[in-house]
Amino acid sequence: MTRKGLCNFSTALFAAEDMEGRSDTMVRDERLTTYIRSLEGPEDPVIEQIEQEAAETYVPIIRKETQSFLKTLLMIKQPSRVLEIGTAIGFSAILMSEYMPEGGQIITVEKYEKRIPIARENFRRAGKEGQITLIEGDALAVMQALDGSFDLIFMDAAKGQYIRYLPEAVRLLSDGGVLVSDNVLQDGDVIESRFAVERRNRTIHSRMREYLYELKHHERLLTSILPLGDGVALSVKC
Ligand SMILES: C[S@@+](CC[C@H](N)C(=O)[O-])C[C@H]1O[C@@H](n2cnc3c(N)ncnc32)[C@H](O)[C@@H]1O
Repeated sequence: MTRKGLCNFSTALFAAEDMEGRSDTMVRDERLTTYIRSLEGPEDPVIEQIEQEAAETYVPIIRKETQSFLKTLLMIKQPSRVLEIGTAIGFSAILMSEYMPEGGQIITVEKYEKRIPIARENFRRAGKEGQITLIEGDALAVMQALDGSFDLIFMDAAKGQYIRYLPEAVRLLSDGGVLVSDNVLQDGDVIESRFAVERRNRTIHSRMREYLYELKHHERLLTSILPLGDGVALSVKC
């Protein structure tokens, strides 16, 4: 493209923005997401209730389209052991437990003491106390102390720490095991230059870019980065 062509291109892009500065692409993406979400069927009433309670109390949980992706992946993979990093109030652990094979077990890790009793109570409400084990503590220390292997690890805790958890996640994955990392595209911020993101988000921004680079270049992992929800990285240990 010539310099003149580039110039015209950016003018056209600018013209595609509405009065509020939202681009056509953004509006179209929102409509697509709304449409995809509208196709989802109902879940178990207890799961729906916990999802509702999470929304009312501003607890961040996995988005609808990520839920659907995880459910499908669990049905394909049929994992016997799942490790989740970031329990919050237990929503995703309970959801995952519904799509695991008979006898499948989940270990989930949470360090925020206010959320731990709520998660425990939710596991009881859902009748999942025998299937889900909550370990309290900092994810890295807990991972370092864990033994055995996991068929699937769901990484959904502090985004800036993923890069530190990665060696432990790889160690804990079985051969052919799957690592799912959520929120890797940071609402699109990840493609921006360091100086275009807010100062307080710059450390997370550079650590996430480093994490994605590692996932894509790790000798034991094959990774696909999906623009799903807030961005999901799907890795398999080879
Ligand atoms: C996005 S929420 C998890 C949502 C949950 N997976 C769901 O979808 O229902 C992230 C959680 O990770 C926890 N977390 C953050 N850093 C952590 C750490 N270093 N160790 C353990 N938990 C951590 C936070 O307290 C928070 O509850």
